[in-house]
Amino acid sequence: MKNIDKKSLENAFRLFESGDIGTIEIGSTLGLQQIHLYLFDGLYDFAGQLRSLNISKGAFRFANALYLKEILVKIEQMPEGRFEEIVSKYIEMNIAHPFLEGNGRSMRIWLDLILKARLQKVVNWQFVGKELYLQAMERSPVNDLELRTLLSQNLTDEINNLEILFKGIEQSYYYEGYKREEEE
Ligand SMILES: Nc1ncnc2c1ncn2[C@@H]1O[C@H](COP(=O)(O)OP(=O)(O)O)[C@@H](O)[C@H]1O
Ligand SMILES: [Mg+2]
Repeated sequence: MKNIDKKSLENAFRLFESGDIGTIEIGSTLGLQQIHLYLFDGLYDFAGQLRSLNISKGAFRFANALYLKEILVKIEQMPEGRFEEIVSKYIEMNIAHPFLEGNGRSMRIWLDLILKARLQKVVNWQFVGKELYLQAMERSPVNDLELRTLLSQNLTDEINNLEILFKGIEQSYYYEGYKREEEE
């Protein structure tokens, strides 16, 4: 694991351990930017900053940078009372993909904050397999059923269990190809 990724993983742990997670705005673009800045401050020069370039992954092109700000205003206004609504909001935020890099890792924390505030639950990411998750994310702009099912089967009400949260963060970094040396 590269030093930059190790530092970011440590930042993610610290976000929860320090209690700073309590200062993040829930369900908004600003909140997502706060998370991104926290994870990548000093590591990416665009930490916390919305992108002005167009990006894609596989065959999927994320929101055009020209309209990104307007799209984000609409997304943060989306309802988040029910589980299905929260998943829809997460999917739209993924389609927006506001940062050049680090969207996956910051957005999973952003999603958990909404789930925790609204439903007193978080995703138990350690049990969400990498292949299944990435497939469901790829599929989600067309059909959200796979992702909704996968996440609903892996919710936990142990929202303050640091061990579960830390294992979830490790899994989140693992999805993106980052693994701790001890485990390699
Ligand atoms: N083909 C795709 N279509 C839609 N979303 C995707 C696709 N491939 C990956 N994703 C989402 O994008 C995330 C990766 O975005 P990225 O900005 O690289 O984040 P990070 O740097 O944290 O890995 C994945 O976790 C997944 O949620
Ligand atoms: Mg990436």
